[in-house]
Amino acid sequence: MAEGNEDYPQGSSREGDEPYRADKCLVSSSQAISSSSCTGDGRSTPGGEGEQREQDTASCSLLGNLKQCHKKLGQLTFSRTHTVLINVPIFNASKQLLPEEGRNMWHSSFVKMPFSPASVVTIKTGLKKQPTQVCRWEIIIKNLDSLASKKEIGVEDVEKVIIKCNPQYKDEWMFDALYSFVKCIPKEENYFHTLFPKMAALALSLPLHVKKAIPLLQTGHSAAITLSQVQISCLLANAFFCTFPHRNTSRPNAEYHNYPTINFNRLFGNWSERKKEKLRAIMHYFNVVTDENTKPQGLVTFERRCLRESELPSWRSCEETLSRLHVTSKGSIEANSAGLLQVDFASCLIGGGVLGSGLVQEEILFLMNPELIVSRLFTERLADNECLIVTGSQQFSQYTGFGGSFEWMGPHEDNLERDEWGRLQRHILAIDALHFKHTKEQYSMLKVTRELNKAFCGFKGYGDDEPDIATGKWGCGVYNGDPQLKAVIQLMAAAKARRGLAFFTFDDEELANGLQQIYHLLVKEGITVGKLYRLLEDYCAVQQALGVSHENLLDFIRDNIRCSRSQL
Ligand code: APR
Repeated sequence: MAEGNEDYPQGSSREGDEPYRADKCLVSSSQAISSSSCTGDGRSTPGGEGEQREQDTASCSLLGNLKQCHKKLGQLTFSRTHTVLINVPIFNASKQLLPEEGRNMWHSSFVKMPFSPASVVTIKTGLKKQPTQVCRWEIIIKNLDSLASKKEIGVEDVEKVIIKCNPQYKDEWMFDALYSFVKCIPKEENYFHTLFPKMAALALSLPLHVKKAIPLLQTGHSAAITLSQVQISCLLANAFFCTFPHRNTSRPNAEYHNYPTINFNRLFGNWSERKKEKLRAIMHYFNVVTDENTKPQGLVTFERRCLRESELPSWRSCEETLSRLHVTSKGSIEANSAGLLQVDFASCLIGGGVLGSGLVQEEILFLMNPELIVSRLFTERLADNECLIVTGSQQFSQYTGFGGSFEWMGPHEDNLERDEWGRLQRHILAIDALHFKHTKEQYSMLKVTRELNKAFCGFKGYGDDEPDIATGKWGCGVYNGDPQLKAVIQLMAAAKARRGLAFFTFDDEELANGLQQIYHLLVKEGITVGKLYRLLEDYCAVQQALGVSHENLLDFIRDNIRCSRSQL
């Protein structure tokens, strides 16, 4: 099981409409990405290098040829493993979003809600300082009410309320980042003093909007939760004011040590430029969801998938050949693959360092789509055979840069269509790669097979109308993975799942070219997933024997295929 800490925790040929022919360029009219992708547009170029390159990449697809999601859902339904927090018959009849009635559950299989009568604190009252148990929600109401009733409030009021709700952290939690943030934003942009009261009111409305107990998506159990964007905003407003009980410590024996944190306290301390940009994205989200005119009216589904032992492929003997592939060094997963299943390079503690100082692919995704942060409230650590799929999250902001150069770049208008369940057509797949302290560690078939199973768990479809997948250098940044090995692993998993792949190398031209060429060779030679697995066995053996091998994986594969072809 991968261990993790808060900031960087651990660690097709689809039978589509047209008959698939790998040797034929699948040409679409419009959506060609830039020149560095596999063009395959059938243009004849003068002889020489251009022609050779054309031949070497002729098997790739254009992005527009990958399959988007067009699932026919029918009416919204719930089941033993799919909890819906809004009233389903009323939604199906009128599309109205009303909270499903239910009783509060103070239980280890459900989220412990801030307003639960079982959430009590002991305070000393009266002249004799008698210890008395008080319902914590009464304290929260009193304090948040004091904020919500004012027109304008300062950070000192916010800090005071958060500490009143969490007195035991008075000397531990810092708010310097929140103070500096509110102080440094130019006046014309500075709407926070009037926003804080609205956020307090939103947090206080939680019992009105969420009446049915929220089940925890626990390790080892496939299950799903569907809730409204309004319900999510109430939950996140409570996370902002740190009202969730029992969620402030991740000591090994703590009740929720196997869950990510949800209260926002770590976002408010340790000022840095990163924190400033993160807070700009978060506050923009709250500005939108507290405004009657812009608050979103859809549903979002969080589905935990757990691959059973019997569903794990016998990789060595897989007969599938590769599915469709589009490779480009330009663009990014989220900007260029609407309608595809977009891979979140996740932490096993979903969301990673989004509430701390982390700021790479997953954290940026969660800041642009803050509704994803609520998955941290109920998603236990992902096991090696598990993934999380989120359908319907809205993108509220846009950004530029990455890591230290990340910058919030203002509002994003999300013009995606909604499905029959009122969910935006954004599909996000969170899969956590292994974190290799030393590069060499990954060249073991135990690790390779773990990554194949993890990717397959996410890529495996459950029907014919599943969208193709948009991915990239999963596990190859903070987690120190070999980009070529991870790319081949994802190609194999997508082939086994019989789904196409759009691979964004994120400005890595060399990887894009190498992938296009090896893909063409593998398709031309009809190389199966099982053959690739056996080649990986050989490569790992060489890596282990030679230490750092003089040959990269793609060259190794090419040489082996050519060598075995010349022996025929
Ligand atoms: N689209 C395509 N590729 C991207 C994008 C994007 N939007 N963002 C980054 N990349 C590329 C970059 O080249 C990056 O180095 O993906 C590489 C890997 O990104 P990381 O976020 O470092 O992913 P990983 O190595 O899997 O680390 C995961 O980091 O964000 C935390 O919570 C996460 O703990 C987890 C760890």
